[in-house]
Formats: sequence, C-alpha cells, structure tokens
Amino acid sequence: MSRIMQKEIVSEMDDIFFESENLDFYREYIHVEQLYLAGIKEVRTKLEILDDEFHNRFSHNPIHHMEWRLKSPKSIVEKMKRRHLPISIDYIKENIEDIAGVRVICNYVKDIYRMADLLLRQDDINLLKVKDYIKNPKENGYRSLHLVVEVPVYLAEEKKMVTVEIQIRTIAMDFWATLEHSLRYKNKDEVSDDIRQRLFDCAESITEIDQEMEAIHNKLKGKYHI
Ligand code: GTP
Ligand code: MG
Repeated sequence: MSRIMQKEIVSEMDDIFFESENLDFYREYIHVEQLYLAGIKEVRTKLEILDDEFHNRFSHNPIHHMEWRLKSPKSIVEKMKRRHLPISIDYIKENIEDIAGVRVICNYVKDIYRMADLLLRQDDINLLKVKDYIKNPKENGYRSLHLVVEVPVYLAEEKKMVTVEIQIRTIAMDFWATLEHSLRYKNKDEVSDDIRQRLFDCAESITEIDQEMEAIHNKLKGKYHI
C-alpha cells in the first residue's frame, strides 16, 4: 500500500446505458480505456517515486495525495458534440486531452513547481501544453497548474504514447475548486454575484494563507535544494 493516500474519482459508468446512436463507439471505447488507465498509472508512479525520494532525502513530502479519473464516455460524447466533431475513436484521441486525468494535491506552492519541473525533466515525458492558473489565475479566482503530457505505455507488441492531463494545486486551492465546482454544478448558471464575489475573495485569502504557511514552513525546515 502506497504511503500517499490515493483516491479514484468515480467515473459515471451508469451513463453508458446507452445512447444507441453511439453504440459502436462505446464498444470500441472499452479497449481504449485500458490504455488511458495505463497512462494514469505511469504518471502516478513517476510522481510517487519523486515524493518518496523527497521523503527520504529531506523528510518532506511534497505531495499530500493524488486523485485520478477516466473521463466518462458520456462526457466524451458530449464534448465532441459541443465541438461539432465526429464521434470516432481517432478523433477523440486527437481532440480530447483530458480522457486521463491525474490531480496532484501538494502541501505548498513551491512543491507544485518542483514536482512539475522534475516530472517534465524526465526524458520519456513529452509536454504538450501548460496552463499556469497560479501565475495567471482565472477571473473567478481559480488557481492550479495544468500540464498536458504524453507518456509511453508499453503493451505486448507496441509502445503507445498516451495523453494525460495533470492538475497540480495546493490543499487550499483544491478546497476552493471543489466548492466552486459543486456550486456551479448544482446551480448551473445561477450563482449570484454576491456568491461569486465571496468565492473570489476566498481565493485571494487562500493565496495569502498558502504564502504565509510556506514562509513558516521554510523557517522551520530550512530549504531543500534540488
Ligand atoms: P475543458 O474544455 O473544460 O477541459 O477546459 P480547457 O480545455 O479550456 O482546459 P482548462 O485547463 O482550462 O480546464 C481543464 C480542467 O480544469 C477542467 O475540466 C476543470 O477540472 C478544471 N478547471 C478549470 N477551470 C476551473 C474553474 O474555474 N473552477 C474549477 N473548479 N475547476 C476548473
Ligand atoms: Mg477538461
């Protein structure tokens, strides 16, 4: 059992039963899921190994925990329809970057950048996209570092590059994003201006708290240099 507490984000498999128009897609997709799950495992293992090394060398665990999920077939189909793209496996692989998603919840902001940097330095990882919503927060206050990477998966007869979306954030940013997401999900577009403003203010406060906690941690622990 890994030291890092891990949690699988439940995918909504019940939604497969079934839009008959997309039945062929669903049949084929079952095989594709295995590949993306392998991509998730590769990324998790790489991050876990880094976390273990930090634990041993610096008595510090950058990663608090990880979560992961495969995008549900229904969400994939909906996204393809929104973008007016054909529902075929090739188009989906080509156009949807977040079929495989790993969320890394770190203790401090410096841990986020350290983990991202060490992961991206590995020579079998290809970086496809970075969105730094910590340096450039979204208008609503959302903060996280998003990476889209390709990672090799070795099958019996071939090597496949698999795309994985990685979201890296602090515990506090994750707390915020979870509440904001559930409000938006429950209320659709009816979140009032007052609530929006309060959430935005919380995001600002969280940023200050993250900075202050990190400063205190630095004082107590000294800095590691990698
Ligand atoms: P999608 O089409 O939703 O995948 O967005 P995108 O392709 O523009 O990618 P982006 O990196 O902006 O967002 C990817 C994921 O980050 C989303 O699916 C959410 O999980 C998360 N995310 C982005 N913005 C927000 C936000 O404002 N609030 C919350 N709670 N999560 C967000
Ligand atoms: Mg997405």
